[in-house]
Amino acid sequence: MNCLGGIRAAALCAAAAVLAMVSCTGDVQSPGIVPLPCSVAAGEGEFCLSADVPVYVCPDTREMRCAADELKELMERVFGTESCPGFIFCGSLDEVAHPAVTMVLSDRMPASSYSLEVSEDGVAVEGGDAAGVFYAVQTLRQLIPAEVQGFSGSVPAVPLQAVSVEDSPAFEYRGVMLDAARHFFSVDEVKTLLDIMAIHKMNVFHWHLTDDQGWRIEIDSFPELTRIGSVRKRTIVGKDPGGEYDETTQYDGTPHSGYYTKDDVREIVEYAAGRFITVVPEIEFPGHAVAAIASYPWLGCTGEQFEVRQTWDIDDRVFCIGRESTFSFFEEVLSEVAELFPSGYIHIGGDECPSKMWEKCPECRRRMEELGLESFRRLQGYGTGRIEKFLGSLGRSIIGWDEILEAGVSDSAIVMSWRGCDTGIEAAKRGNRVIMSPTEYSYFDYYQSSDIDAEPLAWGGYLPLEKVYSFDPYSGLDDGEKPLVLGVQANLWTEYIPDFTQAEYMLLPRLAAMSEVAWHGPCDKDYRDFRKRLPVLLQLYRTYGYRFCESGLCEM
Ligand code: ACM
Ligand code: ZN
Repeated sequence: MNCLGGIRAAALCAAAAVLAMVSCTGDVQSPGIVPLPCSVAAGEGEFCLSADVPVYVCPDTREMRCAADELKELMERVFGTESCPGFIFCGSLDEVAHPAVTMVLSDRMPASSYSLEVSEDGVAVEGGDAAGVFYAVQTLRQLIPAEVQGFSGSVPAVPLQAVSVEDSPAFEYRGVMLDAARHFFSVDEVKTLLDIMAIHKMNVFHWHLTDDQGWRIEIDSFPELTRIGSVRKRTIVGKDPGGEYDETTQYDGTPHSGYYTKDDVREIVEYAAGRFITVVPEIEFPGHAVAAIASYPWLGCTGEQFEVRQTWDIDDRVFCIGRESTFSFFEEVLSEVAELFPSGYIHIGGDECPSKMWEKCPECRRRMEELGLESFRRLQGYGTGRIEKFLGSLGRSIIGWDEILEAGVSDSAIVMSWRGCDTGIEAAKRGNRVIMSPTEYSYFDYYQSSDIDAEPLAWGGYLPLEKVYSFDPYSGLDDGEKPLVLGVQANLWTEYIPDFTQAEYMLLPRLAAMSEVAWHGPCDKDYRDFRKRLPVLLQLYRTYGYRFCESGLCEM
C-alpha cells in the first residue's frame, strides 16, 4: 500500500529510511532504539499507520486504558487532535479486522516485558502486563520520525518499517531523583519530568521533599512546616565556599518559596501512575533538618530559633534523637505522607548527619547511656530503627542513603549507595537490598562537558555521557549477591539548578545512557553503537521542546 502522495510522502519515507539505516546490531535494517531492546529484527515491507487504523485494546482494565492513552497521545501528535483513531476496548481479539493496532496481555511474559511487531497486518503489541504495553508504545514513539510528532496533524499517514522487537528490563527499579527542596519546581514541571522519564522507560520518581533549605510538602498536623519552612528569605549567589561565610558572602536578596499541597501531591502521584511510575517521597531524618527546626524549634537539641538555611553546605543542626517529641512528630508526619503515597517504599534520608549537636545535648547523651550505645552513629541507627518499625506497621519499607549502613540498620532496609559503589557492595554482602546511585555515575548535577567555563555553574565533578553509559551496577558483586541490586538511579540535586529548563539540560541526554544501563544491563554494552542510535531520541527532545546538553555530545 502506498500511503502517502507527493513531495511530503517522499520526504517522510526518506526520513524513515534514514532511521532504518541506523543499526544496533550491525544489521543495517534495524531501527535505532534507546534503550536498546533485548532483540530487534527488521522485517520485509512496511505498514502505513494512519488515523483511521482501528486500535484494539484487551482486556479493558484501568491500567490498559493508561497504556492506550499513551498511544492516543502519540497518534494525536502525528495526526492531530481532531482526527483521533478509533480505540476499541474489548474482552478478546476475535473480532479484529486487520490492518489494525492490537495491544494485549500475555501470560507467557514477565511483568514489564513486551513484544512489538510491525508487519503489513499492522502493529501487534503484547505485554507481560500493562506496563509492558506502555513501554512498547514508547518504543513505537521512536519508530515514528520525530519530525512528524509536532501535533501539527499535517500528515495523513506514516510508513513504519516492518520490525520485530522483544524487550524486558534488566532492573526492576529505574529511578530519577529530583531535589525539590533546594529549588522548588511547579506541578507542571514535575509532570514534564515524569513525561521525560516515561519516554526513557524509567519507573521510580524519587521526590526529595525536605532539606535544610526548604520543606516542600503540606502536613496538616504541622502547618508551620510550610508556613515557615517552605520560605528561604534569600539564597547564596555563586559557588558555596563550604562553611566559610562572612560579610563578603553574596546573597540574591530574593525569597525562594513553594510547597506542594496535598491535592498537588495526589495529582502528581496519579499522573505518575498513568505512566507506570511509582513516586517515592523522601523525608530526611535525622540530618538536613534546618527548615523543619526553623518551623518547630523543639525538634532540635537546643530549642533555638533558626532561619531556613540560605547556603548549601552540610549543616550541624539536626533532629534531636533524645527527645520523644521528635518521634511523635515523625510518626504524625509519616502517617500523613504514607496516606498520600501508595508506594511500598518511603525514603527516610539518613545522609550527611553530623553529631555535633548530639554530643552537647543532655537528652541525646541520656538516650545513649540508657541504651548502652557506643557511638553517635549508633544513636542515628536507633532513631532510624524506630522509624523503620513505625513505617513497617503501615506496611512500608524504608530506603535510606548509605550512611544508614554505618548506623547499623536492619537487613530489611534498602540501601541507596551514593558515596561510590563500595557501600552498595558492602550492603549487598550483608544481605541488604541495594539501589546503586553512586556519585561517579549517577550525579547529574555534575558537569557533563569538560569545557566548564562554557557550562552553567554546577556542583563540581565531571560526569560525561560515556561515563554514565559505562556504569556496571553489578561490579564487585558475585552471582549470589546480584539479585540484591534492585536497580539504579540518576540524581538531580538542585543547589545550582534554579529552574526547570536547566534541570532538563542536566538530565539530557545523560538519562538516555542511564536508561540503557537500567534496561539493557551491563552485558554487551557498546557506547559507539549507543551513539549511533541516540540521534532518534535527540530529535524527539527537539520536537517535544526538551532542552539538552549538545556540548556534552562532543566528549568522546
Ligand atoms: C547525598 O548526595 N547527600 C545523598
Ligand atoms: Zn538532642
